[in-house]
Amino acid sequence: GTPAAKSKTMVTLNIDGFDVTVPEGTSIMRAAAELGITVPKLCASDNMDAFGSCRLCLVEIEGRNGTPASCTTPVAAGIKVHTQNSKLKQLRRGVMELYISDHPLDCLTCSANGDCELQDMAGAVGLRDVRYEAVDTHFRAKDNSGAANPQYLPKDDSNPYFSYDPAKCIVCNRCVRACEEVQGTFALTISGRGFDSRVSAGMAEDNFLSSDCVSCGACVQACPTATLQEKSVIEIGTPERAILTTCAYCGVGCQFKAE
Ligand code: FES
Repeated sequence: GTPAAKSKTMVTLNIDGFDVTVPEGTSIMRAAAELGITVPKLCASDNMDAFGSCRLCLVEIEGRNGTPASCTTPVAAGIKVHTQNSKLKQLRRGVMELYISDHPLDCLTCSANGDCELQDMAGAVGLRDVRYEAVDTHFRAKDNSGAANPQYLPKDDSNPYFSYDPAKCIVCNRCVRACEEVQGTFALTISGRGFDSRVSAGMAEDNFLSSDCVSCGACVQACPTATLQEKSVIEIGTPERAILTTCAYCGVGCQFKAE
């Protein structure tokens, strides 16, 4: 869900009728996980700060207005949280419906089929039908008049170890955060807004190879869809240089030398 809190002060709250005691600063999502309650999510992860962008993890707190994101809302003593009522289920289905209406429906031939968090979450929230016909989608290229082009945006295959397919991107920001928080490289950003928002690598060529990317693979690990996908690479002959490292892709090398 979200990273563990380090506070020594403990807080007791109630989630779906069960009391749980967790360190102060823990997210409601993580506290729920302590009870074995899984709250649907797309943008949260155990090793990165919560971002609150996907709005799938909404919960209700008795006495408070609205439906806050459980990944970014910290626990508080004595609160009563609901994660699974019919209103929340309806809201989550609506959110997923919007994601799927802006996503290619090629699951059966997609390389992430069976290993895709978007697909898993659509199933988890019980989405069966999408009522919306997208008038625009963020994965289509546009022609000069600004009209949506039936072609998907081209893939960025410039990096030898992984590819980036903007058509599959849900702009959850996990790759950008992994690059910053896990790798500390700051090679990625989100450019544009709405249907034009894209993960962008580098300024001039705007591809992964010309960016500051060090091919560490943190973004590939973080991606919940088939947007960033590992390539199968077969090298023939002697490498130009060799680096001793324990991480699968890394071209930098570090102190953790493999023996
Ligand atoms: Fe909480 Fe995405 S998981 S908003």
